[in-house]
Amino acid sequence: MSEHARFTHMKDGTEQDWAIIAADFALYARQLPGRILTHLQLLGGDFGGFPVDRLTHSLQTATRAYRDGRDEEYVVCALLHDIGDTLASYNHPDIAAAILKPFVSPENHWMVEKHGIFQGYYFFHHLGMDRHLREQFQDHPQYRQTIEFCAKYDASAFDPAYEHLPLEFFEPMLKRVFAEPRQTIYRPATDALQTV
Ligand SMILES: [Fe+2]
Ligand SMILES: [Fe+2]
Repeated sequence: MSEHARFTHMKDGTEQDWAIIAADFALYARQLPGRILTHLQLLGGDFGGFPVDRLTHSLQTATRAYRDGRDEEYVVCALLHDIGDTLASYNHPDIAAAILKPFVSPENHWMVEKHGIFQGYYFFHHLGMDRHLREQFQDHPQYRQTIEFCAKYDASAFDPAYEHLPLEFFEPMLKRVFAEPRQTIYRPATDALQTV
């Protein structure tokens, strides 16, 4: 049976309590890639009116990025970019961006976070919206990068005939990208846990 902290209000927490929690956290954090894969699988079978379901779209986006020679971090960003579709119907890019933020460059994080506005170039005008909404970012350093992500990989990933790689193919690179956070407010604690 696993140990539990004894406090009922955090004000009473002790170093011993937090040693128990930290040890548990270290194990739980290492299992993050597995939870991400489970959530990606939730996108399967969900078409939302599109020609392919959301998991197929994600795999096509990642496969296209991979076959175009993008590095692992970029490919993992492509794989996860719509993972928020199940829970964040009105702001899905924010979910992927939040999950990826500790593990990827600020440039790739921005690209994922803003991809919804950039992708809108292809359809906002069909919904009575401004397809040029992304122009507000034209002076941003990642403006071109995000246009390219949408044009080459995201907007083109709705082809039922495209032969994408399976989710298992991306599992090792997902594990490598999520192996250790680069930036987190918990850094001093996570550094200590690495040595445990
Ligand atoms: Fe999206
Ligand atoms: Fe997408």
